[in-house]
Order: sequence, then C-alpha cells, then structure tokens
Amino acid sequence: MSFTPQFLDELRSRLTLTDYVGKRVKLQKKGREHTGLCPFHSEKTPSFTVNNDKAFFHCFGCGAHGSAIDWAMQMEGLSFPEAVERLASDAGMAVPQSTPEEQARAKRAKTLLDANEAACGWFEKQLYQADGRSALDYLRGRGLTEETIARFRLGFAPDKRDGLGQALQADGYEEAMLIEAGLIAKPDDGRAAYDRFRGRVIFPITDRRGRVIAFGGRIMADREGVAKYLNSPETPLFHKGRTLYALALAREASANGAEVIVTEGYMDVIALHQAGFGGAVAPLGTAVTEDHIQALWRLAPEPVMCFDGDNAGQRAAQRAAERTLPLLKPGHSLRFSVLPGGEDPDSLLQAGGKAAMETVLSAAKPLVDVIWMMESAGKPQDTPERRALIRKNLRDRADDVGDPSVRQSYWEEFDGRLADLFGRGSAPGRQRQHRGASGRRGQKGGAPVRDASLQSDGNTSVLEMRARQALLATAINHPAILEEVGEALGTLEMGGSSRSSGEDFEGAEGPSGAPGGDLDRIRQEILTISAIDLDSEAIQDHLRSLGLSDLLQKILSRDVYELAPFAAPSATREQALSGWLDLCDGLMRQRALERDIQNARQALAQDVTARNWEHLNALWRVRQESVKNPDESIV
Ligand code: UTP
Ligand code: MN
Repeated sequence: MSFTPQFLDELRSRLTLTDYVGKRVKLQKKGREHTGLCPFHSEKTPSFTVNNDKAFFHCFGCGAHGSAIDWAMQMEGLSFPEAVERLASDAGMAVPQSTPEEQARAKRAKTLLDANEAACGWFEKQLYQADGRSALDYLRGRGLTEETIARFRLGFAPDKRDGLGQALQADGYEEAMLIEAGLIAKPDDGRAAYDRFRGRVIFPITDRRGRVIAFGGRIMADREGVAKYLNSPETPLFHKGRTLYALALAREASANGAEVIVTEGYMDVIALHQAGFGGAVAPLGTAVTEDHIQALWRLAPEPVMCFDGDNAGQRAAQRAAERTLPLLKPGHSLRFSVLPGGEDPDSLLQAGGKAAMETVLSAAKPLVDVIWMMESAGKPQDTPERRALIRKNLRDRADDVGDPSVRQSYWEEFDGRLADLFGRGSAPGRQRQHRGASGRRGQKGGAPVRDASLQSDGNTSVLEMRARQALLATAINHPAILEEVGEALGTLEMGGSSRSSGEDFEGAEGPSGAPGGDLDRIRQEILTISAIDLDSEAIQDHLRSLGLSDLLQKILSRDVYELAPFAAPSATREQALSGWLDLCDGLMRQRALERDIQNARQALAQDVTARNWEHLNALWRVRQESVKNPDESIV
C-alpha cells in the first residue's frame, strides 16, 4: 500500500509525539523541546530530544532520528503500513485506500474510536434491559429527564465479569484493542480478561468533537472502600489532563451565547445543562491543568470557575488561580464564583433552582480578587514589616504573570489596593517595573533526592513493594496531596508482586488474598477517608483502629524514607507531591514495559522473524537503560 506525502504529513502533525515516546522514555520539558535518555544508545546525560511542533525525535549522541511512524516501527515492531494504520486510527484519520481489496479491509479494520463508540452504544442499551432497571431508577431518582439521559448518552455496565468484552468481541473487536481502549483488563496471572466497569452507571466522555473516547462509571450505592467514580485509564485517545467532560456540548452552547462554567463533577455538569446552563464542563477528577485553561479560552475569554463550597473546593479554586497567572494574556482571565458551604452546583440546583445558580454566577469575582484575598485576607498589617510582607507576597504573585502588559496591570492594581488598605503615602515607587521573567521565582519545590544504591540490588519485587509502601507513606504523611493524587491512587493496584496481582480492583475480586492484600486495604481506606479531610495523625489512628498497626509501622519506616525522602513527614508538600507523581509514573511505565516485553517474547516464540527479534531487543534495551540509570527508575 502506498500513502501520499500529504497524508503522511497530516498524520505526523496530528499526533503528539511525546505521548508515544513518553510511554517508554521519561521526558523533561525544556522550552519547546522535551529531552530524555536516548533509548537507542547507552548514555548517562540526556541527548535525546523530542519536538512536538516539528514532529520528530532526534538524538545528538547517536544520531537516531525519526517521526512517530519510525518510533512505532522500532518500538512496537510494526511494518511501515502497519505503523501508519495504527497511528492513523489513534489520530482518528481514515487511511486512504488504493485497491478495492484494501478498501474492504480497511472498512473491516476497527479503530479505537469505533470500539469506544460500540461500547457506548452497548452501555446505553443495557440501561433499558431488566438488569439496568436499578441504574435507570438511580438516574431518575437524581432528577434526570429522559432527554438528559439520552443527550449525555448515559448507560449502565452490568455487574458481570465479561458482558461488554464478550459483546464487542462477538462484533469483531479484538481483545487487544479492547484492552488498549481500557474497556477490559487482563490480569497478569493469565486469568481471562474482565470488564473494567461493572455494576456502574456509565458516563461517556467525548473529545471536543463529540466522539466517545473514554468512560466514567459511578456506583449506585456509596460504599466504604469502593471508589465512587472510576474512569478509563489513559489511552492513545484519552488524556485526562487535556479532556473536559461535556466540552463538545459546551462548545456548541457557548457559540450560542451560553456562559462557560467549570465545575467539579459529572453530575454537576449534567444538572447544570438540564437547568439551561449549557456551557458547563468539568475536569475528570483532576486539578485544572494548563491545557484545560487553554481549551476553555478557546470557548470564552473569561470562564467561571464554580467549585464546591467546601475547603477542598476552595483550595482547588486557588490552585486554578495560581496556575493561570503565568498564562494570562490581555483580555483573557478566569472568574470565580463561591458556592454556599457544602453545596455543589447539583445540590444547589436541587435546593434553590435556576435562580440560586444565577445568583451565584452573577456574583463571580475576577481572578485578581482571588489572589488578593489569598495574600491579604486575615494577615496582620499593624507594623511596617507585616505590611511589607503582604506587599512582597503580592508582588511575587504579580511577577508570576507571564504576559508583560498584564503583569504591569497587576502591579498597578495591587499598588492601588495596598494604598487604599494601608492608607496614603505607603504606595511604593514603580521603579521595579522593569523586572522581567528573570525576577520571577524559581521552580517550586525541590526535586526529591533518591538513594541510588537501592536501585541496583536487582531485587525488583522488593523494590516494587517498597515503592508501593512509599506511595502510601507519602499519602499518609501528606494527606494534602490526596486531592491531586487521589484519582491515580484509586486506580493503582497494590497487589503482592507484579506477577500475582490483578489490575486495579475493588470489591470481591480484589487481590485481598495476595501478599499485598493489606497494602491494598490501606490504599482503599485512605481513599475512603480522603473525602473527610483528616490530618495525618487522624488517618494513622484510623488505620490502627482497623488492626493495621504492624503494616503501618512498616510503611512509615526509615527503610521507606531512605528510598523515598519525599515520603517522610519532614518533606514539604511540594516535594511530597512531585515525588509521589514521579514514583507513580515510574511504576506505571515499568509495568507497561514488562507487559510489552512479555508480548514481544510470545510473538517471537510464535514467529521467529528478524522484525520480532528486533522488537524484543529494542524493548530490552529500554529496560537495561532504566536499570543502569537509577534516576530513571526507582523500581
Ligand atoms: P465528587 O465527589 O464531588 O462527585 O467528585 P460528584 O460529582 O458531586 O458526585 P455525586 O454527586 O456524588 O454523584 C467530583 C468528581 O471527582 C471525580 C469525578 O470526576 C467526580 O465527578 N471522582 C470523584 C473520581 O474520579 N473518583 C471518585 O471516587 C470520586
Ligand atoms: Mn454531587
């Protein structure tokens, strides 16, 4: 099969190369480039770069160079046409056909998007089967109309081991594709694959064009130890940090004048739409990211953040404000509305109807107010030093603003407000206005230091266990990070060794019998009580009261802190957070790699070709590098 250069160009430009490379190589962003250790030769300092704009990778050390297509060929052992087809389906592009046979074949070749669409249709249908009755009643009980249920394509996943998997395979979807789509999962121990979503109401998640790319699922009766919502894992189509729930619907509504509203949950979005606020969207259980903000600004210059009235919601709002400062540009900002304590938009609408919500929205405050409040509210200002501190903190905040003209406006605004607050005569000179980006504060938080000696003892399973303990220790010692890592923790299995455990699991089929069962119990408990904002002490008491003292002692130990200093109580919140995320990332990547190696081995055993052999070798090289470079991998 031959592809036109135009087609290949478009394909390369549609893909985000770092998504692919990042699965194998740990990349760091440096300006427009991402750098990391080259997987094609052995090195200690990174000379491997990836440029998304130019859509190629290049190694200054060994000269390796190529596009996403080359990468897929080398790393996944695909032929050129196979690589192109695979990438085209990820990018949602139809592969142009030359002969009738090829056309017929492509028609039969199902894409990840097709699989998601088929799953969505299947879930929708289940809602109206006998099994789905309780789910339908649940949705109606929460006040949703038939029209809303249909508009959001809500569905139901029956509590069966392989309902969806079986149905889609009967329709010609291959198991491997369903696994890649995150719809089913296969335990490492060789047991049969099982449906990811079981006994849950299903909320399909779409891309900005309305194509289904992932799902969220909610249990119907809240139960301790079971995650209320479960989301699809990251897949080639679904990147949580870039996706907003209901963006496609909101795009349409905002084009027709609807206000763009960012809220926290699926049900909030749906209730808002049903009440006539069609511009509502939500992140998917994560904090608001840069990508989210850019996506929002494509709809409206000043979206309204409408987070829950509780402390967690308000902290989330402050974080969104902080994160937006560097991105601000003339005319673009955020507004913040404060919900009455304890309410979310869904409950507010139930209690007070559309009018209550309108009142809240019309009282939305500009971003500058949020920053001002953060730095001045409740701060003593009765001495010159204390006033100077407030001024300094506000200036530092203004310095975070990336755009020079907006930064200037923030200085002026704060100076003016300070003059009002402290009385005349205290307004400072403006001589500092030439301070540019160089005057801005450095990166937040120090990089966590790791003990390299622990990485080379070759005992993977002990290290893996320690890594899991470190993740739990960090969460217990720094519960403030749960808001950001809770979702990831919710899907992180804590099975015994990598071989004896299933995928993420809740309920009866969990790996409770495995050696890691108690670790998983602790994980579940942390998730459950994270909702009630306990401090570290209280969490520890709670775990001890459940008879987990011995294990707790092992987790909160010097052994763990030596491996992962960021887990210790003395670490800062920033260190804890970035350490946690790094470690989790490493664990995930390691696990994906082992799985790929297993598959490549099998492929080679079945069919001894040069290509299969090269493929396995390439993966081995990646693994070797990660063992040789301790910084690369903790497990
Ligand atoms: P909330 O707990 O505020 O949920 O979580 P909600 O939307 O008000 O849910 P209802 O009203 O009880 O149904 C907000 C969002 O956080 C994510 C989901 O995206 C949810 O909509 N979340 C929450 C999870 O991903 N997992 C969870 O276990 C809980
Ligand atoms: Mn709610």
